[in-house]
Amino acid sequence: MLILLPYLLLLQLTAFSATPEAQITSGCPDRCGGIAIQYPFGIGTGCFRKGFEIICDRSMNRPVLAGTTKPVPVNHLSIRTAEARVMLPVAWQCFNSSDSVYAYSDGDVQFNLDEVYRISNTNNQLVVIGCNTLGYTQSQRSEGNDYDYGYYTGCMCYCNNSRSAMNGACAGVGCCRLDIPQGLTDNRMNFNVYTHKARLGYSPCDYAFLVDRSNYTFHTADLKMDINTMMPVWLDWAIRDNLTCDEAKKAAESYACVSPNSECRDSSNGLGYVCNCSMGYEGNPYIANGCTDINECERRQEYPCRGVCRNTLGSYECKCPSGSHSADPFNDPCNPNFPLAAKIATGAIGGLFIIAVAVFVSLLVKEKRKMKDYFRKNGGPIIEEVNKIKLFRKEELEQILNRNNCIGQGGFGEVYKGYIRDETHLVAVKKPKIDVKLAGQFANEVIIQSRVLHKNIVKLIGCCLEVDVPILVYEYVPNGSLDKILHDSNRVPLSLDIRLQIAAQAAKGLAYMHSEITTPILHGDVKPANILLDEDFVPKISDFGTSRMITVDENYASTIIGNWGYMDPEYVLTGLYTSKSDVYSFGVVLLELITRKKALDPDNNILLGNSLDTYTKKKRVIELIDPEIAAIGSTGIFHSLAELIVQCLSSDVDQRPEMADVAEHLQYLLK
Ligand SMILES: *[C@@H]1O[C@H](CO)[C@@H](O)[C@H](O)[C@H]1NC(C)=O
Ligand SMILES: *[C@@H]1O[C@H](CO)[C@@H](O)[C@H](O)[C@H]1NC(C)=O
Ligand SMILES: *[C@@H]1O[C@H](CO)[C@@H](O)[C@H](O)[C@H]1NC(C)=O
Ligand SMILES: *[C@@H]1O[C@H](CO)[C@@H](O)[C@H](O)[C@H]1NC(C)=O
Ligand SMILES: *[C@@H]1O[C@H](CO)[C@@H](O)[C@H](O)[C@H]1NC(C)=O
Repeated sequence: MLILLPYLLLLQLTAFSATPEAQITSGCPDRCGGIAIQYPFGIGTGCFRKGFEIICDRSMNRPVLAGTTKPVPVNHLSIRTAEARVMLPVAWQCFNSSDSVYAYSDGDVQFNLDEVYRISNTNNQLVVIGCNTLGYTQSQRSEGNDYDYGYYTGCMCYCNNSRSAMNGACAGVGCCRLDIPQGLTDNRMNFNVYTHKARLGYSPCDYAFLVDRSNYTFHTADLKMDINTMMPVWLDWAIRDNLTCDEAKKAAESYACVSPNSECRDSSNGLGYVCNCSMGYEGNPYIANGCTDINECERRQEYPCRGVCRNTLGSYECKCPSGSHSADPFNDPCNPNFPLAAKIATGAIGGLFIIAVAVFVSLLVKEKRKMKDYFRKNGGPIIEEVNKIKLFRKEELEQILNRNNCIGQGGFGEVYKGYIRDETHLVAVKKPKIDVKLAGQFANEVIIQSRVLHKNIVKLIGCCLEVDVPILVYEYVPNGSLDKILHDSNRVPLSLDIRLQIAAQAAKGLAYMHSEITTPILHGDVKPANILLDEDFVPKISDFGTSRMITVDENYASTIIGNWGYMDPEYVLTGLYTSKSDVYSFGVVLLELITRKKALDPDNNILLGNSLDTYTKKKRVIELIDPEIAAIGSTGIFHSLAELIVQCLSSDVDQRPEMADVAEHLQYLLK
């Protein structure tokens, strides 16, 4: 059997002893348990206005409302918003095994003897908990009505079984809640009695309470909540002399807003009024001279000023210092004035001159901007970081890009040769045709080439990005391409030794790119036209336009535009370009080198690679060899070469040697 704990009326002091227009004596405590107590609230005789007495409960070290029938702890008091946050008990009824209510509490606490409080309708809600429960609150006893009270409001909740209620859900299953109206004065609840027989195990009691609407979340454990639980509730307080502001002002002796620079507002919850310090003042409007001026200049966050701030009573000024101005000094910074006299003088003397200069400058700026745009478009910022590359100014190259210096022309664009100012080495300047795709590849090409430094690879010296399509500057390789040497109409004699040397060194260059640098690089377009020869017939591989960076074990399905005749048929078939694709192309170059025949015979479209197959099968390699060298070399060398070429051209990619092996093999044959 549960017994309601009788509340001991410890509180001997009651509100009735307070003097209405108390002038607060200096002895009034201004805090209790960390909570500021300001008039009209107060602790002790003469310290509070009637209805606002607070008791500092020493045992709890907490303020409680005075004159209550049970302790009502206070955890917040605000003069500015006229709110108090207090703890109020929950109401409950509990059932025994014969399904009768054997104990209950309506939660009622008499805390509002002087009617200064209203339960805040904006900050609270009513919550009812139970599994077959209709709970409601009732407030403002009023005679002469159908019922005893002026307000009734509540809700019903139900659980189909023990697992129906859910944490966090208060929508009618085990828990329901609702908004409350303005004007509630009491914490009195009631329940209807519905059977709990089948539910005693998980829901032996019903509960109803008012609670801070941001401070309660339903948990199924609350179906067995401790009956002594208290909930935080917001109260709206006001000076409730049955008067509105207008009426109160007339009754000067009881008017609560005593501070100069204070205002009266009608209470938003019930009849009565509250006081507030006027704009620009803060403090306590309920005491004489309680509202003090705000020094706005010390609070720039709340009261902005970008100029010179000067506090005034109730407000502040913000002006620009003399010699400067701003359309809105509160929000926009002050800018120095341009002295009027100077303006006039400049206008008179320099008007025309300024216009002339301005036109000139704007033209210059326009050109500069265009060059800058090109620079950015061409990947300048990326390339700038690769510091091996020299970035040339447009002027530096202009004298080379002269029709007389043109040494080559083709689908790719034009190649010029010349000297860069103050440099002694000849350079080849490659000016690509205007081609959007090409511009896109450009940064890639430049970066790839900047990473390659090998004697068999054409060195990229730098580039110029300040033009529509970027220009590349290479070392000049004087003897032209292998293609030209092999197939030019005036055939220069080429000994077997020289051919083997060219092949071996070109292979070295490719092998270097494939395996000796951190990120392997595939050439993608190996052909005689891309193998240049210097004065000693040392080959230098050029044109990385179609190369891509490829990681070691990742076959990259790229869009390499190989040259028909040199292109790996496996690549055509699978779309996978591998280092072995370069090996295939190099095999064709080797074949071309020893036969001095074009890879793709322009007359009958026969691929040189294909014809080889027939010949080796018939072991008639010699017939295929360029007669110029066939006589000198031993058949052993040619058979060995043919075998290497057959391996390079193998349709089984795994049968093809690595480029490094090819280079080694050729080096061996050279000896
Ligand atoms: C008093 O004024 C302040 C700002 O001027 C406002 O935020 C506050 O809500 C007002 N208080 C009341 C009770 O009207
Ligand atoms: C249940 O409570 C009612 C009312 O107090 C009482 O009459 C009844 O005997 C109680 N039943 C049991 C089993 O305790
Ligand atoms: C109600 O509970 C019963 C038994 O616990 C169950 O069979 C039934 O499906 C439940 N109904 C709903 C709507 O949850
Ligand atoms: C309820 O308020 C108390 C005290 O203000 C706070 O400590 C607690 O975290 C709040 N609970 C929720 C669920 O907001
Ligand atoms: C307010 O008015 C009601 C009736 O109009 C009266 O009963 C009550 O005593 C008055 N209260 C005060 C504080 O004047």
